[in-house]
Amino acid sequence: MSIKNVQALIAEDFNKVNESIMAALSSDVALINELGAYIIMSGGKRLRPMMTVLCAKAAQYTGDKHISAAALIEFIHTATLLHDDVVDHSDMRRGKETANAIWGNEASVLVGDFLYTRAFQMMVDLDSMQVMRVLAQATNRIAEGEVLQLLNIKEPDITEENYFNVIYSKTAKLFEAAAEVAGIMAYETSGQPEYQIEAFREYGKFVGTAFQLIDDILDYTATAEEMGKNTGDDLAEGKPTLPLIRAIQVGTPEEAELVRNALLNADVSQLDEILKIIERTESLTYTYQKACEQVEMAIKAIDPIADTPYKEALIELAKYSIARKF
Ligand code: IPE
Ligand code: IPE
Ligand code: MG
Ligand code: MG
Repeated sequence: MSIKNVQALIAEDFNKVNESIMAALSSDVALINELGAYIIMSGGKRLRPMMTVLCAKAAQYTGDKHISAAALIEFIHTATLLHDDVVDHSDMRRGKETANAIWGNEASVLVGDFLYTRAFQMMVDLDSMQVMRVLAQATNRIAEGEVLQLLNIKEPDITEENYFNVIYSKTAKLFEAAAEVAGIMAYETSGQPEYQIEAFREYGKFVGTAFQLIDDILDYTATAEEMGKNTGDDLAEGKPTLPLIRAIQVGTPEEAELVRNALLNADVSQLDEILKIIERTESLTYTYQKACEQVEMAIKAIDPIADTPYKEALIELAKYSIARKF
């Protein structure tokens, strides 16, 4: 199975997800429609809503609330991106100018808030206290993760543990929620077994963690054309991600000092040298291995789920999270 097959498998439901996204985007305020449509239609991979739909199907959920659950999760994701690009001073995303580059920081932050709050309105309509609890906790934890990351900026001595806490919070938590809510809906309204909830939650957490590890590798290795984002943005922001944390840990004192200083000063002028150090210390390989471990754990987590094409697609999605080039 390839990611294209995965998309084909859920095409019918996914059209409905996209319709739900479009319908929920509308506002009487022109700027919200304009900026909102720009960002939401700009070619995101839609991995989180894909995960919700696949888990709902794999869980044998029989209702239709997974559609708006998937749509609102993409709204939350999009809101975090609008905010993240302001905080990260990014001017390119999905191969296009970021919303903040076009409309400015104020508009991006506020339309991000609109998307967040619209997501909460949609959440209430799902009529499940447990689903609401999971999503409310997830969004709160994402915010915590972004603040924690802010505190880590230009801090070269961040531990791996601290790094994993950041990526779990800012990224994996939403994947976790995207998968878990499907299990909850199947349990609450389709009489499916409760153990599926835990299986999906773990699956989402591991895939999300792998996904961010790869994102942090791509930031150093992919071209802007491939990635749709600027290469080297993380260092330009002074963000201590695993490739650098590892290089500092295992490099020679001279290498460690060079990387530490680059992070301290958010200085990209020695990027070529740093890439060589990352290469020599095998820090990218190390980071990639960590991502592979996460994918293995993700696949193991859904062991108890019945074998269906949907489960197979979930396995494919997990593998795609580390095979991707953008
Ligand atoms: C980008 O997520 C933010 C991270 C968590 C790295 P995606 O790579 O899923 O973004 P889009 O929606 O496909 O552009
Ligand atoms: C992911 O972190 C951001 C969120 C989950 C909000 P990054 O800052 O690495 O994401 P990109 O690289 O800008 O997409
Ligand atoms: Mg960013
Ligand atoms: Mg990134």
